[in-house]
Amino acid sequence: MSSQSVSRRNWLKSSTMIAAGLTMGTTKWAELQARPAETFVHPLADLPVIKARLSSNENPFGPSEKAKKAITEALPDSYLYPREHLMKFRKMIAQEEGVSEDHIMLGAGSGELLVATAICYAFKNGAGSHVLSADPSYMQLVRASTNIGIGWEKVPLNKAYDYDFSALSGKVTDKTSLVYICNPNNPTGIVTDPQQLAAFCESVSKTKPIFVDEAYIDYTANPKKVSMVECIRKGQNVMIARTFSKVHSFAGLRIGYLIAQPDVIKEIAKFGTSGSSISSTSVRGAIASYGDQEFIKYSVAKNNESKEFLYKLLKENGYTYLPSQTNFVLFPLKMDGKRFVDEMMKRGVSIRSWVFDDKQWCRVSMGTMDQMKAFAEAFKQLA
Ligand SMILES: Cc1ncc(COP(=O)(O)O)c(C=O)c1O
Repeated sequence: MSSQSVSRRNWLKSSTMIAAGLTMGTTKWAELQARPAETFVHPLADLPVIKARLSSNENPFGPSEKAKKAITEALPDSYLYPREHLMKFRKMIAQEEGVSEDHIMLGAGSGELLVATAICYAFKNGAGSHVLSADPSYMQLVRASTNIGIGWEKVPLNKAYDYDFSALSGKVTDKTSLVYICNPNNPTGIVTDPQQLAAFCESVSKTKPIFVDEAYIDYTANPKKVSMVECIRKGQNVMIARTFSKVHSFAGLRIGYLIAQPDVIKEIAKFGTSGSSISSTSVRGAIASYGDQEFIKYSVAKNNESKEFLYKLLKENGYTYLPSQTNFVLFPLKMDGKRFVDEMMKRGVSIRSWVFDDKQWCRVSMGTMDQMKAFAEAFKQLA
């Protein structure tokens, strides 16, 4: 082991301890601050039968027939490491995104890429630095950073539950290690204005890297317009994470990728597996699914049917909701969120609750029509 890695370890240990001490010393002060969003989901493990699992934004309308065929055909060769298939997949992504292959890093789902990024920037910036994000948002990168001992600066969403870019810009300091943006955002489902986000990326990325998580981009009306990949093409210090877990229905197959400047990819790759955590079956399935526009259209259309069903149900029962461009919908509850989650679970329906902006919220993922009907039946009993 090199002396550099030993001293890095010591730094990490001491920075974690410093951060832990600081947190303990400032608990009261922190309590006085606006509370971060809280979320609650019933543990699925202790449930024998579940009618509708609508708590993890999975996509029940796939994987596609092409993907399933490719996976089956890949099985006999799966004693081999999938190197050439990973290279082919990376090339396909690079061509589609209009960047060179060294801009792409593959992962078994985007989650491991978010965590690798968190670890990389924690090492780079050290104790006292922080990641900056909106609240509420997807927490995987933030949580990995705070678990290491890095701080979290949060900016509440604005009144329309959208990003407040001027507030975010105002929170950037020399201690900011990176800015995390999720677009469309999870848990709100709202897509932010691409022009505003592009302007934010252009100005802030001059001093700080920006990580844009585009997990749900394929559900937006115009994914190419919403994506920030042009910022990367222009050479800006912007990273983009994508996942196959959503529109491609690969949540259990685990495929994701990161697009960033080649020097940034090189740095983050030191803390990831550079695709070697991906199975040969999954990557071959992903290659088959990647360009399958017919399946993507089908998947989005089925998702929208379920969404329209939910919107109608909510309206009929006097509920409002946030307009979603994803495969989930967030709506304000008229009862305690944890109680709602438990009561729905007793009826075989798994959903997730949030507390923010002084309101209790339910986030429901889009399921098949049968699953949506199971949701509706349980919901009407409680509404
Ligand atoms: C915004 C966002 N990013 C990333 C992920 C991670 O997904 P995966 O690890 O399955 O690619 C999720 C999962 O729900 C998500 O909602």
